[in-house]
This record gives sequence, structure tokens and C-alpha cells, in this order.
Amino acid sequence: MRINVGYFQKQKASGIPITMLTAYDATTARLAEQAGLQTLLVGDSLGMVMQGHETTIPVTLDEMLYHTKMVVRGTEKVFVIGDMPFMTYNISSDQALQNAARFIQEAGAQSVKLEGGLRMASTIRRLVENGIPVLAHIGLTPQSVHRFGGWRVQGKTSESAMHLIEDAEAVQEAGAYAVVLELVPSELAKLISERLTIPTIGIGAGAGCDGQVQVFHDIIGLLADSPKHSRQYAQVGQIIQGAISNYKSDVENHRFPTEANAFTMDEEALQGLYGTVNAGLPDSQ
Ligand code: KIV
Repeated sequence: MRINVGYFQKQKASGIPITMLTAYDATTARLAEQAGLQTLLVGDSLGMVMQGHETTIPVTLDEMLYHTKMVVRGTEKVFVIGDMPFMTYNISSDQALQNAARFIQEAGAQSVKLEGGLRMASTIRRLVENGIPVLAHIGLTPQSVHRFGGWRVQGKTSESAMHLIEDAEAVQEAGAYAVVLELVPSELAKLISERLTIPTIGIGAGAGCDGQVQVFHDIIGLLADSPKHSRQYAQVGQIIQGAISNYKSDVENHRFPTEANAFTMDEEALQGLYGTVNAGLPDSQ
């Protein structure tokens, strides 16, 4: 049985921060589960870190479902959240419900995430009323990067901070079980976390949140640079590059493969083969 949505409230009550990470495939999802993580987000950040796009906007619903299925297949217990991509929930609450249902029914996720505060409240309510747990996402919402004019910290003025508080309260009121705060000043994130009864999960929002979410590629150092709000716990990019360059050099210098990597025939079959070859191969009539 997988971890259920009650986990989030329990963690907030216990004061132990929620640890969430993105995952996009079965193998890394399995590793994350084995490392003890209890929640995985199949983020549309995969558009940038896996597909090589500059933003998350080109990611499609079918692509998100494909990756969510992999993460579900690679895990047994973790709570899997599928991220609804650009314009797959914004047009109407009917559209949102139909598409969110695909994450749960086809892909096997336990929840969906969608971006937006007050303006998405009625959609969140519709999904929750229909049995779909929703993780909300406010602050810097990457699908609106063109409207923000870049990857900017949100809520830096008292007016925009008040809007973010309204957003946070609106998604809670609408029934979201938790809310991601992305690129929000620490003081504001702490204030929101104290005001809400549901947990906040920060990314670039400081230590005052009830949990943290990070992009897998950033924390393992798969890419050359990681954002300021992240920390590289390993330099896996360098390790991979080193391994590939050693492989190339071993092949070119006849150090790989060796006998240990090869397969052999038994002696009798080999002698038979030599005999046949030496006698001339039989006609294939
Ligand atoms: O797409 C994503 O990975 C996200 C997280 C960074 C919160 O939205």
C-alpha cells in the first residue's frame, strides 16, 4: 500500500520537514524510494532537465503521463504527484478534471499538482470534490515565466506579498492538501507557513517552510550549474563524463572488452565449427 495524503498533515503536526524530490523515470524513482523518500513529484521541470527546453511550457500531457507511469512502476510505497502541464487545466474546470483523472487512472499517481493561487481556487475545489488530491503551487510559477518576465523572486514588495498570502489562503480554502512556495522571500514563506493549517513545501523559499522540494538533477549535480536555492550533494555529471571518457579510451586502446566480458563456445562445438569451415561451408539449398 502506498503512503497516502494524510502523511502531509502528519508531518506538519510533527514538525519534521517533508522531503520531496522530482523524479522522471523508474530507475531514479526506485533509488529515491530506497534512500527513504516518501513523496516524489513528476515535475514538468522535465521539459528543461530531460528534454532540453528553455522553459516547461512545451511539455505535453501525454509526455507527463508517460513519465508518471515510469515513476509509479519504479516504486512501491512513495506518494507520487503528477504535475499538470501548461494549459491542460486552465481552460475550464471540466478540462482540468478530465486531465487530472488521467494522472490518477491511467498513470497511477496519487495526486496532481497545478500552478496558481486565487485564480485556480474553483478548479482545485472541483478536483478535490471529485476525489483527486491537489498540491497547489504559488510564487514563481514557471508556466507563467513569460508574464513574470523571467525567473524572479515573487512577493518582495508588501503589496505582492499580500497577494501571495491571499493565494495561499485561497488554495487551502479550496481543499489543496499542501502548497509549493517557489522563489519566495524566507520571511514571507515563514509567515505563510505559520498562517496555514496545510503544509507549505518550499523551493527557494527558505527554512521556514514545512517541507522542501528540489529538482533531482540539481541535488545530484548532473548539470554544470545548480540554482542558488539548491545544493549539490554529489557531482554525478563529472562522474558520468569520466566514465564515458574511460570507456572510449579503453575501447580505442584494446583494453575493453577483455575475456571477462566475452562469451565462449564449448570445445566440441568449436571443433565442429572449425571442421565445417575448413571443409567449406555446406550449400544452403
Ligand atoms: O516542475 C517541477 O519540478 C516543480 C517543482 C520544482 C516544484 O514544479
